[in-house]
Amino acid sequence: MLKVLMECILIENLVERIYRTLAERESSNPKYRQVWEKLADEESDHARALEMAKRLLRERVIVDTHLSEKQVGELLTRTKQFLQAVQEKPDLPHDRVVRSMIALENALMKVHANLAIEFKTPDLQKMFSSLGSGDENHVALLKGMLEI
Ligand SMILES: [Fe+2]
Repeated sequence: MLKVLMECILIENLVERIYRTLAERESSNPKYRQVWEKLADEESDHARALEMAKRLLRERVIVDTHLSEKQVGELLTRTKQFLQAVQEKPDLPHDRVVRSMIALENALMKVHANLAIEFKTPDLQKMFSSLGSGDENHVALLKGMLEI
């Protein structure tokens, strides 16, 4: 099984947990809570789409994920670290959290764009492009939550 796909699924799951944690402790603004929940739900959809792609994957898939492998590995570490920070520091300032998530979603967008190119089957390419639009929507939603 392609390590890169497994790690992508893990990243989506971790990002969902970050958003879920933020939703649970959002006390200042009920609207923000709704946005965090929506973001978390969509990350769980992304993970499901990737799981499905993983099941569809057979040896027939020609793939060269050389470029993305390192990027995905680094992003996984970064996502884990941020989840830990969010869990351990409940008093992180709102805008700082939002900006960090914008940076993380942007990094994910780049990886998904590379993977859309590197996977040689149309269905997987399509799936990664649609993940890319998902990331783009998330960045727009997050930008709407910036207070400054
Ligand atoms: Fe996602």
